[in-house]
Amino acid sequence: MGVLMKNNQPAVTVCFTNNKGGSGKSTSCANIGYELSAAGKKVLLIDGDMQLNLSLSFFDEEKVLEMAESEKNLYYAIRNKKDLQEYIVATPYKNLDLIPSSLLMSQVEYELFTMMQRELVLKKCLEGIRNSGKYDYILIDAPPTLGTWVINILCASDYVVVPVEASPWGLFGLANMFDFLGGLRDMTEAEIMGVLITKVDERKNYYRQTREILESYREIHVFDSFIHVDASIEWAQDASKPVAVYKKSTRSAAEFKKIAEEMINTL
Ligand SMILES: Nc1ncnc2c1ncn2[C@@H]1O[C@H](COP(=O)(O)OP(=O)(O)O)[C@@H](O)[C@H]1O
Ligand SMILES: [Mg+2]
Repeated sequence: MGVLMKNNQPAVTVCFTNNKGGSGKSTSCANIGYELSAAGKKVLLIDGDMQLNLSLSFFDEEKVLEMAESEKNLYYAIRNKKDLQEYIVATPYKNLDLIPSSLLMSQVEYELFTMMQRELVLKKCLEGIRNSGKYDYILIDAPPTLGTWVINILCASDYVVVPVEASPWGLFGLANMFDFLGGLRDMTEAEIMGVLITKVDERKNYYRQTREILESYREIHVFDSFIHVDASIEWAQDASKPVAVYKKSTRSAAEFKKIAEEMINTL
């Protein structure tokens, strides 16, 4: 009975957004996704960015370009309003699947423009998977924009994680993003799960400053755990692997694991 009930629960959908590029969205989405899967959760990752960074986190460039150039990717699914179940690719890791992106995602705004209910296209394409019982979590990596496509991502999500870089400009524009989300209240019930502070460098004092400012937004949760700057992250990305697979003992691997645990415990 317990198993049956579990299967009827829709997957929890979480997107990683911040209109600032380089804040750690793709890195967090890939590594938290991996850690959730390593903890035994069934996870689907959706690469919503034409930069293909989430796909490149698991497959080498040749394979990513092959998927991007085929018609089995998110762009064609959205353009043709297809059920996303047909677009799932298995990653090399247990419990972890991916829907790849395409360079053509740059045209998705244009494709959406003439569609009816254009903010809800992704939500509808995702409905079958969400309710299939196949996944516990669906994580969506968003591009660094705030257009109709990102509205689609927000409308398809239950929760939003906002990675923020601990740097002088890391918080710049964040209030805009919160206002943007607030403006979508009648379209989506997506809640901010938390702000994740990334790229923390102990030699600089931006971490304290960043956390203090973030905590002054009383209604917004800031994850207790955070991610330090770690060169292994870039090496792991170069090898198309999650950082924990590339080097299990590295600091950021333990940090991503802690964030995944925070997520599991709060949902
Ligand atoms: N904790 C970290 N330590 C070192 N480099 C990082 C870390 N997080 C991200 N990076 C690097 O910073 C760059 C931007 O990260 P990314 O996840 O692509 O950001 P976004 O998706 O928000 O644009 C990438 O080159 C990535 O390798
Ligand atoms: Mg990215």
